[in-house]
Amino acid sequence: MKLWGGRFETGTSELFEKFSGSLDFDKRLAEVDIRGSQAWVRALERASILTHPETDAMVGALDQMLGQIRSPAFFENASDEDVHTLVIRKLKDQIGGLADKIHTGRSRNDQVSLDIRLWLRDEIDCDMRLLRELMAALIGMARRRPSAIVCGYTHTRRAQPVLWAHYLLAYFEMFARDRERFWEARARVNLMPAGSGALAGSGFPIEREGIARELGFDSITRNSMDVAGDRDFALDYLHAASLAMLHLSRLAEDWILYSGEEYGWLELGDATTTGSSMMPQKKNPDALELIRGKCGAVFGDYSALFMIMKGLPMTYNRDMQEDKPRIFDAADHVRGSLAVAELVVNTTRLKTGPPLAAVQASWAVATDLADALARSGVPFHQAHKIVGRLVLESVQQGKTPADWNAQSLAEFDPAFQPGMERFLDPAAGIETRELPGGTGPRAVAHALDEAEARLKGMS
Ligand code: ARG
Repeated sequence: MKLWGGRFETGTSELFEKFSGSLDFDKRLAEVDIRGSQAWVRALERASILTHPETDAMVGALDQMLGQIRSPAFFENASDEDVHTLVIRKLKDQIGGLADKIHTGRSRNDQVSLDIRLWLRDEIDCDMRLLRELMAALIGMARRRPSAIVCGYTHTRRAQPVLWAHYLLAYFEMFARDRERFWEARARVNLMPAGSGALAGSGFPIEREGIARELGFDSITRNSMDVAGDRDFALDYLHAASLAMLHLSRLAEDWILYSGEEYGWLELGDATTTGSSMMPQKKNPDALELIRGKCGAVFGDYSALFMIMKGLPMTYNRDMQEDKPRIFDAADHVRGSLAVAELVVNTTRLKTGPPLAAVQASWAVATDLADALARSGVPFHQAHKIVGRLVLESVQQGKTPADWNAQSLAEFDPAFQPGMERFLDPAAGIETRELPGGTGPRAVAHALDEAEARLKGMS
């Protein structure tokens, strides 16, 4: 069935029908299309376009359809142009000619906007839930090793010692911002477009606010032409999704490295690793690599939709049908990646020895020593220079911080006073960083409590 045709003399070619049909992918909108149609039918009744018995018949038939869409049989042999056409055809099969009234004052242009908005709203709610669970997993892991010291890096070079919990909380903050971004995207998604018609607004006295209330929208959209041509809301979602994936991919990259033999900090669980068909010893971090890879796919979806929308003349253009494969593809990747990331976090164990050894084998405590000198009154640049020389000599002689003590430090430079040797131990320097946001044990314990409280407040 087609929702148009009167103006044509011959049919469309089979080749073009295949080319232009979207049912293969937009069938995922079946449920929201039906729910949106039910709300539309009720609005038609309120506008006295449908009688009460007609409304009942249509809503009832659509209810029945909701019960059938989970079965693949519902879509079998369907050759409809899109999901909107399919739903109306099925309605017609059930209730006959009355179904022809459903499209009064409605266009697929406002219908598809309504459908995607309803679909994305659910998806965003799910992503936000998954993000919260991932954040809870990070806190759980931090709580298991609250005082473990690891090496922090800049430029992939050993930089300064930090608490593992502090490192995990850094990702907690990134994911907290991602949740905010999803929430902001949701506000722009959750506006009700029905009643916009094809582009000029509906010619019937549809009470749009009522539809918005029934479908749980915050309010109605303001301009029918904007609705017909707008996919900003989907791009907002893809932006939030892309940043969440970016953060996931950085976590993935860290942990791929940290769990490898060269670092040896993390033991990934069997639940998220794979073996090799040839090399019996391998335990590969495929879950993390896939998250990293899927991140690229989501960025691709995001830029694809930008390219699709760029330069489109007002208002609707069929190009816009290409939005859905990108939205669905990104949504599947994000959902899957968030869930698997949580599983990885919950099944990975930190081995405290190797990351501490990485600190001890390096001069990651150099800043702590320079700070100690500065605290005693040595201008920081001079302190930096003294410790720089200490590091140079140590590197030349193959010495690590453990090879120094109070006496040898004082002999190296009289600026080193008794007591400063305690900063050769990374724990001492960490304890000086108790500013809010720092890696000091009390600051981190406080940050953990605060993070947990924030998590509890998240819906
Ligand atoms: N399948 C179309 C899409 O996804 C629905 C809107 C069709 N509108 C039209 N004027 N052909 O964009």
